[in-house]
Amino acid sequence: MNKGELLYEGKAKRLYATDDAEVLFVEYKDSATAFNGEKKQDIDGKGNLNNQITTRIFEKLREAGIVSHFVKRISDNEQLVRKVDIIPIEVVVRNIAAGSLAKRLGYEEGTPLERTIVEFYYKDDNLGDPHITTEHIDILGIATAEEVDALYKQALAVNDVLQPIFEQVGVQLIDFKLEFGRDVDGNVLLADEISPDTCRLWDAKTKQKLDKDVFRRDLGSLTEVYEIILEKLGGK
Ligand code: C5P
Repeated sequence: MNKGELLYEGKAKRLYATDDAEVLFVEYKDSATAFNGEKKQDIDGKGNLNNQITTRIFEKLREAGIVSHFVKRISDNEQLVRKVDIIPIEVVVRNIAAGSLAKRLGYEEGTPLERTIVEFYYKDDNLGDPHITTEHIDILGIATAEEVDALYKQALAVNDVLQPIFEQVGVQLIDFKLEFGRDVDGNVLLADEISPDTCRLWDAKTKQKLDKDVFRRDLGSLTEVYEIILEKLGGK
């Protein structure tokens, strides 16, 4: 499969066309960003680690019957994915209070939530990805009520698969962000990546942060903790 025209460059990935109109190349970059791009750093090996970790997670989801845009990993930094139109909604699932929820509602980080919650954020860098309700989604016209229902259900299904996988290797899945797209037939399909860039992962015993908070909060080497996650998922 040949790598064609660069279609889109985001903060962490580049998307290229291929010979097949329904398949894209994704290239994982070595750049880390936080706070809507205000903090930036190139980190050698980060793209490779996230490509491997995302691959393992999408494969595990596929084994559990959850389909996504993921096709296969083809090199250190590249994978093939099915082309989708990304729905501009970031879907966040939270099991334990941390990050913006802890701040907004005054919870101490690490407090288990009474139940898992799902939140929606409007994916718009200029607005700083604001938290939105289903009514905002309706007036913005960015997804139908049926699609919102599918986002909600699929997000919880992903949590149900990933939580025990991480638990078995001594890691707590605190929270994570998902993105979805519409395929050519209009079906809602899980997309983007699932990696320590998009999840909060804590060592269950020591509570060590094994995710991008290490970069956001200057807590040490990002690649060292991403390597721990890759190893725990069975990679090297
Ligand atoms: O910052 P906040 O607590 O709202 O983040 C919730 C989860 O969503 C975290 O796991 C974070 O890594 C992820 N997230 C993300 N991309 C964003 C915002 C949050 O991956 N733009």
